[in-house]
Amino acid sequence: MGHSATGEVICYKEMDKDDHFYGFGEKTSFLDKRGEKMTMWNSDVFAPHNPEIDALYESIPYFMTVNKGKAHGIFFDNTFKTVFDMKSSDETYSFSAEGGVINYYVLAGPSPKDVIKQYSYLTGRMPLPPKWAIGYHQSRYSYETEDEVRELVQTFKDKQIPLDAVYLDIHYMNGYRVFTFDEERYPNPGQLIADLKNEGIHVVPIVDPGVKVDPEYSTYQEGIQGDHFCKYMDGKIYNGDVWPGNSAFPDFTNETTRNWWGEKHDFYVDKGVEGIWNDMNEPAVFNETKTMDLAVVHGNDGYPKTHRELHNVYGLLMGKATYEGLQERLNGKRPFLLTRAGYAGVQRYAAVWTGDNRSFWEHLQMAIPMCMNLGISGVPFCGPDVGGFAHDTTGELLARWTQVGAFTPFFRNHSALDTVQQEPWEFGEDIEAITKKYINLRYIWMPHIYSLFKEASDTGVPVMRPLLLEYPADPEVFNLSDEFMIGDSVIIAPILHPDKNHRAVYLPKGTWINYWTGEEYSGQEYHLVKANLDTLPMFIKKGAIIALGQEKRSTEEKDKRVTFHVYPSMDGGDYFFMKMTGGPLITRKERLLKAMCVMK
Ligand code: GLC
Repeated sequence: MGHSATGEVICYKEMDKDDHFYGFGEKTSFLDKRGEKMTMWNSDVFAPHNPEIDALYESIPYFMTVNKGKAHGIFFDNTFKTVFDMKSSDETYSFSAEGGVINYYVLAGPSPKDVIKQYSYLTGRMPLPPKWAIGYHQSRYSYETEDEVRELVQTFKDKQIPLDAVYLDIHYMNGYRVFTFDEERYPNPGQLIADLKNEGIHVVPIVDPGVKVDPEYSTYQEGIQGDHFCKYMDGKIYNGDVWPGNSAFPDFTNETTRNWWGEKHDFYVDKGVEGIWNDMNEPAVFNETKTMDLAVVHGNDGYPKTHRELHNVYGLLMGKATYEGLQERLNGKRPFLLTRAGYAGVQRYAAVWTGDNRSFWEHLQMAIPMCMNLGISGVPFCGPDVGGFAHDTTGELLARWTQVGAFTPFFRNHSALDTVQQEPWEFGEDIEAITKKYINLRYIWMPHIYSLFKEASDTGVPVMRPLLLEYPADPEVFNLSDEFMIGDSVIIAPILHPDKNHRAVYLPKGTWINYWTGEEYSGQEYHLVKANLDTLPMFIKKGAIIALGQEKRSTEEKDKRVTFHVYPSMDGGDYFFMKMTGGPLITRKERLLKAMCVMK
């Protein structure tokens, strides 16, 4: 351990030749982070995400070491900029911070799942999200008018494609002023939201932290009068440019400001909103450093600290203000919050999407280890922009990405201004049939997926898992980045390249059944699997029971019947009986429904 004259602190640890490293929140590159050096500094990165970018929107200074099947974790609870160096030496690794103290927790494991349970016990677990949050969501920067939103929803209806939420990006506002609607584009938002709710669809508006500097704008006036904005030590308010132009930023480190911000959500809740999308909360500022001046001093409830020290928790605290504000206003309904920035513990308030990816096959590939490592880092509710945000997607990429999205915990198609439209029907009938098939599949699999969300909210063990969590001693899975598990008995092995209809699939110990064909495969082997554009390779472990529901228009429509698909196994015969009586296989409500078993 060390402490430099400039206040930097560093801790070295021995590195064993069999150590493999996972977690670190939201990072690019492959699953195993041995050989990587990563920085924790919440950053808005629009430039294409690639393996060289070592700081993105989330900072989770935590990782898990797995060595021959045994695991332990380290949570370095330091909000300054931190660096984890698993690269510079073969004998040691280090973690360091620009300031503060070496304050870290060792999570003893011994299994990878134990480490996640311990870490999430410490930093908190995801509250069970409302079911609609787990359905299919459609977004675009931006659906600019009320008519456009109505037409979009009508098209989903006409084409019988399920839909649970539509997002309103920044154009819904009056000059990008948060807590306003543009009166021309959105003349009657309350009616729009009510009408959509009647169709079983929720509206999720974006709320950024930047408040436009405008003396005639009530939120700015209140912020000034209530002393809610971030300031320098001499009391001068910090202003920076974001979407609305010159803006002030609420100081979420103060409880009074968090309460004020929470109360502001009356504006949305009164119109029927139950979910909010927080963006630009690193905070992002359009300047050289891409963020707030580090010399700003946050109030921090009477314990003032610089932005240099609290930068990484700005998004987390905005999430806390928003989530708690919604919770207080929703009369017992569960709120939904989506965030771009966060710190360790962000899962207590929000789902995380992985920011501004592009419509690149490489970004589809990267999304899988990124989300698996977020899951290991205590954030089970995560997903990328399906189809890719920037750049023009293609029908083939959208089809393959929708197949993956059907099984990522968060499932939202979102794309940027000036890119081709990428709603499920934009690329002709063949692609539409495929995107529709997989959006439907999400709803059919909803009872199983929702049960896994329940497990994640109870234990922290993620919904989307690397094979490593279930088979930590199998060397084939240490860096397996192109397959993932849903729970403990389903493997998804998507096609992640253009013009490919075959891939090698590794199946670990056990016997595995092809979900589509019923074909049986032996484990601890690679198999060449065929998958035309309409096929997502999926494998179920023998001995499992999967609870499946039905196609529906949205999660508002209840399953009339839940079917238990039993994959009996001679060697694991009592496995599924244990599952039936023990685990939260089905939610309480569904338990009352008539159950039917189908033997596979
Ligand atoms: C940021 C977000 C993106 C959003 C855009 C406009 O780039 O990451 O999702 O569409 O801002 O609000």
